[in-house]
Amino acid sequence: MPRVSLPLSVPPALEGRDLQQAFGPQTVLRGVTLQVRPGEVVAVTGPSGSGKSTLLHLLGGLDTPQGGEVHWAGTRVDTLGTQVRAQRRAAQLGLVFQHHYLLEDLSVLDNVLIPTRLSGRGDEGRARDLLGRVGLAGREGAYPGVLSGGERQRVAVARALAAHPAAVLADEPTGSLDRANAQAVAQLLVNLAREEGAGVLLVTHDDRLTRYADRTLHLLDGQFTDEAPDFA
Ligand SMILES: Nc1ncnc2c1ncn2[C@@H]1O[C@H](COP(=O)(O)OP(=O)(O)O)[C@@H](O)[C@H]1O
Ligand SMILES: [Mg+2]
Repeated sequence: MPRVSLPLSVPPALEGRDLQQAFGPQTVLRGVTLQVRPGEVVAVTGPSGSGKSTLLHLLGGLDTPQGGEVHWAGTRVDTLGTQVRAQRRAAQLGLVFQHHYLLEDLSVLDNVLIPTRLSGRGDEGRARDLLGRVGLAGREGAYPGVLSGGERQRVAVARALAAHPAAVLADEPTGSLDRANAQAVAQLLVNLAREEGAGVLLVTHDDRLTRYADRTLHLLDGQFTDEAPDFA
């Protein structure tokens, strides 16, 4: 169950309605509907190739769905032009991928500030605060190259929250980390987002991460299924 209760008038942080996507003859999503409420953590699991990343790309506005709608904080965005949507994404979403995508020639602090500079939301004080909360106080001036894999992904988590997003979308965010680091990063992401009131969509094929979610949806054959299949 969600750990927050909000009036019904508050729109979902993130919503997909009847999303459909095919690549050539292969139908990957056959009508997927989900809502993530502010402060709620929703995990999406499914076997490799089941369409998790495709779904995340549609919900993040990185691709345009062939059918259905995407809404961020109550506003439909799949009908917007690419550039307007990118601006809105910088202001309303945080993205964390399996690879950290830090810019190697920017300091840790400047990496966290990127969404702030793109959107005008958030500031350096907030970026420093977030870095402290992910355990990287004192490393603001370091360059990504000297950080461990877990530290880089913690920078990516701080960056995702820098511009006060409505929702954070994470695609296998711990997939390149060892078990201890994976759990630490997942815990940080979820705790920070909850504190900030941001919804989280956590896409993972790692069942160990679903324990951090308020609810878990299973993607199979292009739709959500009620069963919890064995993906091993
Ligand atoms: N851009 C694309 N072009 C063609 N096929 C794609 C593309 N993106 C994903 N697919 C196919 O869609 C299916 C779902 O992929 P994906 O969403 O990456 O699954 P998951 O993240 O669950 O492993 C796979 O069969 C994949 O090969
Ligand atoms: Mg994937």
